[in-house]
Amino acid sequence: MEHRHLGRSGLKVSEIAYGNWITHGSQVEEEAARACVAAALDEGITTFDTADVYAGTRAEEVLGRALQGIRRESIEICTKVYWPTGDGQNDRGLSRKHIMESVEGSLRRLRTDYLDLYQAHRYDSETPLEETLRAFDDLVRQGKVLYIGVSEWRAEQITDALAIAYHLGLDRIVSNQPQYNMIWRVIETEVIELSQKEGIGQIVWSPIAQGVLTGKYQPGAAPPAGSRATDEQGSGFISRLLTDELLSRVQQLNPVAQQAGLSLAQLAVAWTLQNPAISAAIIGATRPEQVRENVKASGVQLDPAVLTKIDDILGDQIVTDPAYTSSPRKRP
Ligand SMILES: NC(=O)c1ccc[n+]([C@@H]2O[C@H](COP(=O)([O-])OP(=O)(O)OC[C@H]3O[C@@H](n4cnc5c(N)ncnc54)[C@H](OP(=O)(O)O)[C@@H]3O)[C@@H](O)[C@H]2O)c1
Repeated sequence: MEHRHLGRSGLKVSEIAYGNWITHGSQVEEEAARACVAAALDEGITTFDTADVYAGTRAEEVLGRALQGIRRESIEICTKVYWPTGDGQNDRGLSRKHIMESVEGSLRRLRTDYLDLYQAHRYDSETPLEETLRAFDDLVRQGKVLYIGVSEWRAEQITDALAIAYHLGLDRIVSNQPQYNMIWRVIETEVIELSQKEGIGQIVWSPIAQGVLTGKYQPGAAPPAGSRATDEQGSGFISRLLTDELLSRVQQLNPVAQQAGLSLAQLAVAWTLQNPAISAAIIGATRPEQVRENVKASGVQLDPAVLTKIDDILGDQIVTDPAYTSSPRKRP
């Protein structure tokens, strides 16, 4: 497993990280979750990503139990705040109150004294940015959080945050966590351009488009049993990708992967890592074999001809419009 700096910070992360959205505390039983985490550690993954909201806070608990006993200094634990964690009006967003309360819950569930990376899961238009950044900065001073990042923020929102941090001497954002894969490339212009100038690393999610880029979903066929598309929670998130047009283009990628000596999943993860702006690709898994397969994308160099073939095959299925980076207008 190769490691990369998280943006311009001194922190190193494994270029393939493990995340537990949809899976821990929900789609998979605890035993399978533990087996996936064990496989990730065994394969050299050191960076683990979760969020307070995943599985109604249960995902953090499962990950906390699975990582118990692992030398704390040998792993990086990343979580997030913003989406609702309760029914109350302050159980959401990026107010000082919710940040200060939610971090305590995350620390307790993850069984750790500090988080390596604490991320604003979306932009909160109902809280002054200064309030959020001061709360994050206080957590850094308290030693509860080592680095701060954001997720799915637009370039201008990141720019505003950097300006406030600079003028007030507050801790600076080191990372952004956007969706990025062969078919979803909306960060490539504005967000990456700004981030590279400012030293912000991208920890990207859904590198295999939730399983779609493995080729296991066939056009015109029912989704395979046990896959995310058949899961009660997961199906709502993956359904927009299950069009015959996209699925048949993905099938056409098979010979490209074969020629490169990779599985389709490995090709997809490796594709994200070709971009130097990417600090890590966060993979999800329901079975340890998936982790073992996908980590082999670490260190793979793809030939420029392979990249061109991928672009030609996926064609108009590729989404690039930066306007798709967005946060809810009002808090959920
Ligand atoms: N910041 C955000 O807003 C945000 C949003 C979403 C995700 N994330 C982060 O990104 C992480 C990864 O997201 P993701 O789970 O969508 O990533 P992904 O790696 O694109 O998809 C993972 C899913 O694909 C299937 N899969 C994985 N490897 C496979 C293989 N080799 N063969 C066949 N199927 C395979 C598995 O589902 P099945 O076996 O069920 O088919 C697995 O759970 C999350 O855990 C979370 O940490 C962040």
